[in-house]
Amino acid sequence: MKIAVLAGDGIGPEIVAEAVKVLNALDLDFEMESAPVGGAAYALTGHPLPEATLKLAMEADAVLFGAVGDWKYDTLDRPLRPEQAILGLRKHMGLFANFRPAICYKELTHASSLKPELVAGLDILIIRELTGDIYFGQPRGRRVATDGHFPGAEEAFDTMRYSRPEIERIAHVAFQAAQKRSKRVTSVDKANVLETFQFWKDIVTEVGKEYPDVQLDHMYVDNAAMQLVKEPKRFDVVVTGNMFGDILSDEASMLTGSIGMLPSASLNSKGQGLYEPSHGSAPDIAGKNVANPLATILSAAMMLRFSLNQEAAAQRIEAAVQAVLAQGLRTPDIWSEGTTRVGTAEMGDAVVAA
Ligand code: NAI
Ligand code: MG
Repeated sequence: MKIAVLAGDGIGPEIVAEAVKVLNALDLDFEMESAPVGGAAYALTGHPLPEATLKLAMEADAVLFGAVGDWKYDTLDRPLRPEQAILGLRKHMGLFANFRPAICYKELTHASSLKPELVAGLDILIIRELTGDIYFGQPRGRRVATDGHFPGAEEAFDTMRYSRPEIERIAHVAFQAAQKRSKRVTSVDKANVLETFQFWKDIVTEVGKEYPDVQLDHMYVDNAAMQLVKEPKRFDVVVTGNMFGDILSDEASMLTGSIGMLPSASLNSKGQGLYEPSHGSAPDIAGKNVANPLATILSAAMMLRFSLNQEAAAQRIEAAVQAVLAQGLRTPDIWSEGTTRVGTAEMGDAVVAA
């Protein structure tokens, strides 16, 4: 088994170092190979996703990714910016299924912006389709309108589209994930207004017939946005398109206390995956040993589960994270009165010890 380790820039190298420490502590048989990506790669090679880095990622069984997007590179032309690296990896690896669990650890119940009783025990999984929808649909562009409310005016347009196989494969992923959890899927759409999402709803319903043990319901996206803050625990697995999933998963992340706690997995049809924290490269705190490494460590656990077939090892990591929280150890983003403030490296060491 080979893991490509792409730390990136900003806090990326600090948080990935802690996840690597934890992986090494497991004493499992795999090889880790590092390569530069994002701003770090631009500084070395003039490109955010060098050929050699992409090749390593494509050949590996899994990619452990830190973060990219240091502000230093904000003035570069768009194709050279660090963020192009993550978009390029998603595209080239065909990473269509994005898993974003939102788990509220009991020790962090009071860190959420919602009332503790609404989030206590929260454990939902948002599955976002990652390579289709209006984010990638063609045609798109700017032109002079020939119809509409203002013929002759400048206008911009994008195209929302999904093909049957794209919807079928993400629906299967969701139902299979639900079979391993509490056997409930909520498919989020806007079928009342958009043909693309009526099609989505029809196909998810069809696929659902192959999973009679899983209960399926449908919800319009505007209601889902409301229910996530009104009664988040009503959800278990949520499956939705690229744009709705982008927005709802960020909303859900805030229920759990800190973005520094949230892992993610992005999978393709070959079982390969890219695992990264849900946050960015946090240039405001980079190099200060204050970033929370737990999202990255939990992403490494997802990697063991989904790509490396090491469920027991994944559970050991998750239990260790729970244990350090129970010991009262907190990086500044999750610190509260009465707990012990630790740095990035100390948090990683504590997880290794646990
Ligand atoms: P961000 O997630 O990097 O930071 C948002 C806020 O959360 C900041 O105050 C930061 O200090 C804090 N934060 C983030 N991760 C943390 C952690 N592990 N521990 C403690 N605090 C943490 O989002 P922002 O500031 O919008 O973006 C910064 C750069 O990252 C941008 O260039 C953006 O494009 C890029 N980005 C990259 C992503 C990726 O690599 N997949 C995803 C999102 C943003
Ligand atoms: Mg987003």
